[in-house]
Amino acid sequence: MAADLDAQALEASRRLIAGAGNIMVLTGAGVSAESGVPTFRDAMTGLWSRFNPEELAQEDAYRRQPALVWEWYLHRRELVAATHPNPAHFAIAALAAQKAVTLVTQNVDGLHQRAGSPDAIELHGNLFANKWLDGCGHCDPATAVPGLPPRCAICGAMMRPGVVWFGEELPRVARYRAEHAAENCDLCLVVGTSGLVYPAAGMPGAAKDHGAHVIVVNPAPSALDQTADTVLRGPAGVVLPLLWGGAPAAPA
Ligand code: OAD
Repeated sequence: MAADLDAQALEASRRLIAGAGNIMVLTGAGVSAESGVPTFRDAMTGLWSRFNPEELAQEDAYRRQPALVWEWYLHRRELVAATHPNPAHFAIAALAAQKAVTLVTQNVDGLHQRAGSPDAIELHGNLFANKWLDGCGHCDPATAVPGLPPRCAICGAMMRPGVVWFGEELPRVARYRAEHAAENCDLCLVVGTSGLVYPAAGMPGAAKDHGAHVIVVNPAPSALDQTADTVLRGPAGVVLPLLWGGAPAAPA
């Protein structure tokens, strides 16, 4: 067991999870750390090392240099596609088979879905999804003109990655569903997030304001430790299976 994981806190958390009615799980990049998913900044290696990710992940960068930004996303897709879900992803999927769970993630890597959580609410979109920039409403990927990026065969609009860029609003339905879950859960399990990016970072506080117990799982201090009733100081891939067991399925 991780050295500084408090056995009493672990046992108390196990009991809270076993007795919970509605559980909200909120995950961040840390839940994918043990899968080796490069964080937003890790992907900046080799040819990409001279770029600042926050300058690339925004709409005006895309309008100025569409081919460069599109190729950066192709590079990130390649890196992430080579990773696999880890015990933390599988444990969360296994929990949903035993309890009423709403999974909300800030991650765009799709690993929750590959571990068996088909209904993960993706607050920041998905790296492998595409949408259109200024589309005509009839843009169709099936007939898109290939290129960097592909373009609509009808109006010439550029295809763009289906992720939330800096300065953009979150997908409305995903945000509504996540906020509803926060206000209606009796346990909020926060896994692997620094708690620095809103509105996701505000959701555990909202859950607490509505009477939920908040458990944080993180090997390092985070901005949400103050909100937590319980902090389990350890890696998600070790802690989550200890909390309720997690059937590791074959990597998808
Ligand atoms: P961060 O990179 O800010 O934080 C990752 C957290 O995971 C840190 O608190 C680490 O201590 C923790 N961590 C590391 N290894 C872990 C492990 N094995 N188990 C559990 N936790 C571990 O990532 P996020 O908090 O997810 O937004 O960042 C939120 C958002 O900021 C991202 O979604 C992205 C970024 O800007 C957009 O792209 C819109």
